[in-house]
Amino acid sequence: MRFGRITAFLAVSLAVAGSAPASAHPVDDGSLRAAARGSGVHIGTAVDMSALADDAPYRAAVAREFDTVTPENVMKWEVVEPQPGVYDWAAADRLVDFAHKNGQVVRGHTLVWHSQNPAWLTETAYTPAQLRTLLRKHILDEVGHFKGRVWAWDVANEIFNDDGTLRDTIWLRALGSDYIADAFRWAHQADPKALLFLNDYNNEGVNAKSDAYYALAKQLRAAGVPVHGYGMQGHLGVQYGFPGDVLENVRRFDRLGMKTAFTEVDVRMELPPDTAKVQAQAEGFGLLLRACLMAKNCVSYTVWGFTDKYSWVPGFFDGQGSATPLDENLQPKPAYDTLRETFLLVRR
Ligand code: G3I
Repeated sequence: MRFGRITAFLAVSLAVAGSAPASAHPVDDGSLRAAARGSGVHIGTAVDMSALADDAPYRAAVAREFDTVTPENVMKWEVVEPQPGVYDWAAADRLVDFAHKNGQVVRGHTLVWHSQNPAWLTETAYTPAQLRTLLRKHILDEVGHFKGRVWAWDVANEIFNDDGTLRDTIWLRALGSDYIADAFRWAHQADPKALLFLNDYNNEGVNAKSDAYYALAKQLRAAGVPVHGYGMQGHLGVQYGFPGDVLENVRRFDRLGMKTAFTEVDVRMELPPDTAKVQAQAEGFGLLLRACLMAKNCVSYTVWGFTDKYSWVPGFFDGQGSATPLDENLQPKPAYDTLRETFLLVRR
């Protein structure tokens, strides 16, 4: 990787900023992880477990660049309980072990969601009482399995529509909105020390969806429900422009006493990339990180894959891609430099 420019930038920025003590960066190896050290914000990535097993440069980069990891798929219900009552924690355990060997904390993802549930669950006509029992058991068993080894959980994922109404899911239909508070209570019961998050996309700025989260968080916390954090996925696209009021949004959750996090950041574009799109992409990554660093209680910034080699984007959006900070050869784009520079310049 071309770190020369960054190292030179570091020397200048430390001199200019004057506020970053040398001890905050004892060894700067040019990584994101080194730049984030001392900032109070963990830098993370989603991890593709096949790549982690088979691709040595990918594996080395996960260890070098990040101090928190999120399983991209292997803690989801369809993976951990492929048949009723038959658990398979193997892949998730491998990631948790990898993280602990590398001094990283784990964000667990995700406990209650409308997607990636096992077919046995979604294709059986369970009664509401049975569904509630199944959800309770799923959360108690999964959070219990990782007790003390997962730092933060995305407990409830994507529960609102963009217009601020609750998403129509098997959970809402059978259990009404109570399933949300229940999910947090069960997760807390299974691991009282884990940070418990709401998590969604299109909720980074102030809008109908984030307003709905704000109202829900306020209501749940007033009722004593253990909801600790508000996660903003941060799936942006240069062709849509970026929300202008991210900091305002993050700060209102700060004021509620909640932690916040950017949990799945990527910035896609119509292919092929060009200089303007790549520059806009860097601005998108930087905008979210700036908001995180400028808000008191933002605890982590996670990218949803760090290399285009394994990004989910081209498979889901026809003609789009190039959404991560490193290209398919693990070479940094301007977005990578912007992330480092932002960590080094914006100090709390
Ligand atoms: O595991 C099967 C494999 O056995 C099969 O051969 C293959 C054939 O298609 O599919 C594999 O499953 C895929 C799975 O990823 C694991 O690779 C699914 O098809 C594919 O749909 C699934 O996509 C994941 C997606 O969530 C599902 O909604 C993406 O990798 C993952 O990046 C994405 O992550 C979500 C977050 O959890 C929540 N927020 C949005 C984000 C992006 O969609």
